[in-house]
Amino acid sequence: MHKSEIAAFEAEARTFLAERLAAMGPDEGGLANFYLRKLETGRIFSRYDRELIALLEGEARVVHAGIGIGQLSAALALQGSEVLGFEGDLRRHAAAEALRLRLAPDARYSIAFARFPDGLDPAYDPSGATLLFTNVAATWPDETYEAMFAMMHRFRRTILDLARFGDARQEPAEQAELAERIAAKGLALTPLNFVAEKTAFMEIRRAA
Ligand SMILES: C[S@@+](CC[C@H](N)C(=O)[O-])C[C@H]1O[C@@H](n2cnc3c(N)ncnc32)[C@H](O)[C@@H]1O
Repeated sequence: MHKSEIAAFEAEARTFLAERLAAMGPDEGGLANFYLRKLETGRIFSRYDRELIALLEGEARVVHAGIGIGQLSAALALQGSEVLGFEGDLRRHAAAEALRLRLAPDARYSIAFARFPDGLDPAYDPSGATLLFTNVAATWPDETYEAMFAMMHRFRRTILDLARFGDARQEPAEQAELAERIAAKGLALTPLNFVAEKTAFMEIRRAA
C-alpha cells in the first residue's frame, strides 16, 4: 500500500469509527479506549500495523487472530492477500464486518466470529499461510497457549508480538520466558526488529 492509499484508508476509517462510536452511545459497544484513542490521535493504524502492511506485501494468505475492528486485516486484503480474520467478541466482530463492507467489500477478506484456533475450519490448509497475532493481550488459559503453539507447527510461519500475546509483557525477562516456552516446542524465533515502541515482534517457523 502506498502512503497515499494508507492516508485515504485512514480518512475513511476515521469517519467509519466516529459514526460507529456515536451510534453506540455511552456503552461504546466494547470498542472503548483502544479505539477512542485512535480517533483522538487520528491514527487508525498503529505503528506496528504500518510495519506489518509493508512486511506482508505480496503475502498470498494470512490468518489474523484477534482482529478487533480489522483495520489491519482489511488493509492486508486490499493489498492483495487472501485474509481470514478471527474475532471472538460479538460487537467487535460486527464492527469489523461493517468496516469490511465499507472499506474492502471486493477484497478476498472474510471474518469468522469465533475464537482462534477453535473456530478454524478443519478443511483450511494452513501450510502455505502466515499466522498473525497483533496485540492480543487477552489473558488466555494455559490450554489456549498450548493450542496456539500446536497451530504454529501447521502454518508456514507465525508472526507475533511477545509483548502482547495472551498477556501483556513489558519486561524483557517476561518476553524471554515466553520465547523460551515457544522454542521448547521445536519452533525457531527470529526478531523482526520493528521500530514500533513497546513491541517485540517475532517471526516463528518450525525449527530445522
Ligand atoms: C486489543 S484488541 C486489538 C485488535 C487488533 N489485533 C489490533 O492490534 O488493532 C484484541 C482483540 O483480540 C480479540 N481476541 C483475543 N484473543 C482471541 C482469540 N483467541 N480468538 C479471537 N479473538 C481474540 C479480542 O476480542 C479483541 O477484540
